[in-house]
Amino acid sequence: MSSLSAAAVGEEGGIDGVAGVHLISAFLAMEPTRCLLSHAKNCGGGSVSLGSQRFIWDHCISKNYEQSHAPYVKNFVKKLLSEIESDHGEALDELYELYADYVTSIKEDDSVKGNSWTLKHISFLFPDASARLVVPLQCSLNMLEGDTGCSIWPSSLYLSELILSHPEHFSGKSCFEVGSGVGLVGVCLAQIKASRVILTDGDPSSLANLEINLKLNGITPHNQELDSVESTIVKCVHLPWELAMEYEVQDFSPDIILGADVIYDPLCLPHLVRLLTILLHPKEPSYPRHILNHKSHKTGMSSGNSMSRGTGPCSPAKSPDAYISSVIRNAETFNQFLLLADQANIAIQDITETFQPLDLLPYLQSYDRSSIRLFKLSPK
Ligand SMILES: C[S@@+](CC[C@H](N)C(=O)[O-])C[C@H]1O[C@@H](n2cnc3c(N)ncnc32)[C@H](O)[C@@H]1O
Repeated sequence: MSSLSAAAVGEEGGIDGVAGVHLISAFLAMEPTRCLLSHAKNCGGGSVSLGSQRFIWDHCISKNYEQSHAPYVKNFVKKLLSEIESDHGEALDELYELYADYVTSIKEDDSVKGNSWTLKHISFLFPDASARLVVPLQCSLNMLEGDTGCSIWPSSLYLSELILSHPEHFSGKSCFEVGSGVGLVGVCLAQIKASRVILTDGDPSSLANLEINLKLNGITPHNQELDSVESTIVKCVHLPWELAMEYEVQDFSPDIILGADVIYDPLCLPHLVRLLTILLHPKEPSYPRHILNHKSHKTGMSSGNSMSRGTGPCSPAKSPDAYISSVIRNAETFNQFLLLADQANIAIQDITETFQPLDLLPYLQSYDRSSIRLFKLSPK
């Protein structure tokens, strides 16, 4: 966890510490440039003052020059300059010079063609402002890349805030995520020390990117069966819902199942509900666990007793809790999910109002948390 406080960043050139942290965090998360402009004005007391330009130059642009997505920075600088000009304000020479460089070096369509991969940093800002968690994630600017699994979706921001706001609920637990995408939820689960984190996705390119992101965050996925007593075991599993085999999935036997933004494709819903049904209804193994300890050729899935919760042959299997966060974009699709779940004897409770995260992402103006619902699933 990085410990850059608002006071350490701000109060420079008259920039308020919190406003400065929000501007830097928004820049690193690659918020839309209209949001950055709003933060820049906030720092400058209502306009893009020379003080806020100097702050942007020192703390956002120069400091992150090597790793920034050039077309994004170009658009930001262009927006800043046109705002300053329309206010008849004075602009820093550095900003003009950088923009001139970009005009000659970057073509307008560079961000559309081929150059769609970038590194975003999601900064979770804790209320006492004494610490923040910064999660670097490689992602695509093309939302459809990797079957949608290479972008950060708002429901995973929400689930991540929930995990970091209520660590006691998840730490020491064996967690299993469906449709993990870029892996933000997994990084947060490892951060709060869940005992095991099984991250799954059906798209191989998303899974490969997820592994890169775990490494970027200092997490080594254990794709062999390894026991660790000291830290969270994180494992990435190729798991297309359509191919999930009951005997393989059951052996994971998690305490908590998670899913963010996975209810959207009507064709996949029956398979997703079938997978959730298996996970929510753990059964005692009918034969010794070492027989289950093998690799599946079909799904590339491995299962084994070192990754399972380890209910012994005599102990009763406890049903896990499942938390699914979702933006309901299409009511018909969501109702189909409710119907399928009902037929599968899964009870769904909307707990959005009763189990709430703290607002750890106050600078993300493009993140509309009010559009997200949180559901708890349990066996009937
Ligand atoms: C909208 S993205 C959400 C990703 C991530 N949970 C987030 O919120 O940022 C949906 C994810 O579900 C995965 N997915 C979609 N259909 C799937 C299927 N049939 N089997 C397994 N994974 C699937 C996609 O690959 C993608 O990673």
